[in-house]
Amino acid sequence: MLDHEKVAIHTGRRSRLPVIVAVHSTALGPAAGGLRLWHYPDWRDGLTDALRLSAAMTSKFAVAGLPSGGGKAVVALPEGLELDAERRRDVLHDVADAIASFGGAYATGPDVGTGPDDMAVIGEITSHVFCRPAHLGGSGDSSPHTAQGTLAALRAVSRRLYGTASLAGRSLAVVGLGRVGAGLARLLAAEGAALTVTDVDPDKRSTADELDAVWRSPDEILAANVDILVPAALGSVLTRQIVAELRCRAVVGPANNQLATLDVADLLHHRDIIWVPDHVASSGGVINAISTELHHVSADEAHARVRAIEDTVDDLLDTAQRCGQTPAQAASELAMRRLRAVSAPVGTPAPSSR
Ligand SMILES: NC(=O)c1ccc[n+]([C@@H]2O[C@H](COP(=O)([O-])OP(=O)(O)OC[C@H]3O[C@@H](n4cnc5c(N)ncnc54)[C@H](O)[C@@H]3O)[C@@H](O)[C@H]2O)c1
Repeated sequence: MLDHEKVAIHTGRRSRLPVIVAVHSTALGPAAGGLRLWHYPDWRDGLTDALRLSAAMTSKFAVAGLPSGGGKAVVALPEGLELDAERRRDVLHDVADAIASFGGAYATGPDVGTGPDDMAVIGEITSHVFCRPAHLGGSGDSSPHTAQGTLAALRAVSRRLYGTASLAGRSLAVVGLGRVGAGLARLLAAEGAALTVTDVDPDKRSTADELDAVWRSPDEILAANVDILVPAALGSVLTRQIVAELRCRAVVGPANNQLATLDVADLLHHRDIIWVPDHVASSGGVINAISTELHHVSADEAHARVRAIEDTVDDLLDTAQRCGQTPAQAASELAMRRLRAVSAPVGTPAPSSR
């Protein structure tokens, strides 16, 4: 059964490529979620991605307690197709047309395969776009805010494990030193954490040197004997086999889709390893962007919302412990409660937020 409010599939007027916009829910507010410009064996795989990712955005905003709904846009590029600058522009204008047809029910931002400059091109046609470059009035690159949000989640986990939110003296292994990972590693180093790091790109070794961090190969680092493992590269890093090898007490990172399969969250729980759902630990960037650009709150208020990820994770860990659940189950139930609360008939008492 289709669980989404509206899904539009267009053949782009200019590019002739499949443009998909999925709005999962506007129960909490107009939908937001990034534009994925990616290669798929078949455009229907792009549709599957759009349906799944837009539903995940609904949960992300509901758990964060924000007045936004979940949406996602996907352009399904045929395998092997490389876009030159002109065709890319055509694709982005086709996406903008599709977004405009939603009349404000959906706004887009960057995701895999797109960035702030692409949002500027979409902004030539529709205002329902966020993360345009700062000189065009947008909030630009979201990765520093994503890193801040992950730091907030790490503080909550540190408090739970060690009785203090401070990460000074804690050992952390950061997997992936890209835009978010390197920024987060710098924040952690500044706080006095002992870092072990890796990246598949050997050039990133200079970042390790700069931060006085121990460098390990990507294969070795997952089993490093550290307090907290921080996945900050690609998805599906937590397989059943890797979980059996982990020697950390928690896994908290910005990488999307960390679980190879959903049952891995239970395996982590059985091994007494705290796993903060990635859609919570990675939410700082989108929280900052939609807060400033769509909800029009001040920069200070937006930063406060990103820092509030610490409280969100505190609450999830409390609930999980009290109810004998995984933090992932606690997050999913919290999202459902918040969504039910807004769709309840008038006069129904609102359920508690926890
Ligand atoms: N940028 C954001 O604001 C944001 C927001 C939410 C979630 N995320 C997620 O966070 C993760 C990192 O995003 P980013 O923007 O820093 O991406 P990025 O492309 O800048 O960095 C990813 C880094 O991971 C490295 N890498 C790839 N495979 C690896 C492996 N197997 N082992 C070690 N390193 C590997 C790459 O070389 C690169 O340096 C992604 O999963 C992304 O979806 C990012």
